[in-house]
Amino acid sequence: MLDVSNVSKSYFSGNHKQKILNEINLTVRNGEIVGVVGESGSGKSTLARVVMQLESADTGSIAFNGQLVTRKNRKWFYQASQLIFQNASAALSPSWTVRDILLEPLRTMKGNREAHIRRMLSKVKLSEMHLHKYPSELSGGEQQRVNLLRSLLMEPELLICDEIISNLDRLIQREIIDLLLELNQEMGMSILFIAHDLPAVMYACDRIYVMKDGQIVDESVKTDGAFHFSHSYAKQLFDSVLGKRMKE
Ligand SMILES: Nc1ncnc2c1ncn2[C@@H]1O[C@H](COP(=O)(O)OP(=O)(O)OP(=O)(O)O)[C@@H](O)[C@H]1O
Ligand SMILES: [Mg+2]
Repeated sequence: MLDVSNVSKSYFSGNHKQKILNEINLTVRNGEIVGVVGESGSGKSTLARVVMQLESADTGSIAFNGQLVTRKNRKWFYQASQLIFQNASAALSPSWTVRDILLEPLRTMKGNREAHIRRMLSKVKLSEMHLHKYPSELSGGEQQRVNLLRSLLMEPELLICDEIISNLDRLIQREIIDLLLELNQEMGMSILFIAHDLPAVMYACDRIYVMKDGQIVDESVKTDGAFHFSHSYAKQLFDSVLGKRMKE
């Protein structure tokens, strides 16, 4: 479904060139939940932005369902893919009610938009009561649910989540992840789940890529509930959380 091939990207600060993404190869298949982990600054968010064409890659290509994604045709891609960021409160207009926020992406939809929203509300465990509130009147978890619902209203085939649980406490993190798992099961939605929280990623994902200094250094598929990494950095990273799985 999503194919990232040999993507590289550098930034210049002054006349110093810093390679942020180095020959990235990554795929997400239909219905798959794929994790990208790596320490802060390893290039995870840059990768998400490049995939969403918010920034261009220097080299390499991104394809979706076999078709090349470019800045020019990204509108087509945005129908099928949605990106959600960490900071839900910043993503939600403070002067809009939840109802307005949710109606906005549906402005070109034919049929009963309000009914569609009401149907979807329960999917993210929100109620009609929330529709009349402003973002500042919601908890962090509720804000992230509204943010998530806004993306889901477009019925994306692929959801890219960049650190969407980082500011939430453990219990709410778990709720949001369980919700993603349900949506994946029910709607067949593929998810690219970017996070530095290893237990959460291990719990949520079918397959994990490990990034370090702009490179993908390892990849593992969940087998019998566990991941097996071969690269020493990845091993070290995951050994440190062994026994602290989110499930337990
Ligand atoms: N617009 C920019 N101009 C210059 N450098 C940038 C820019 N955006 C990001 N960088 C640099 O690119 C590197 C990777 O940043 P990125 O945000 O992708 O990391 P990350 O893996 O998402 O980290 P975190 O886990 O903290 O979110 C960092 O060194 C950062 O300083
Ligand atoms: Mg980031």
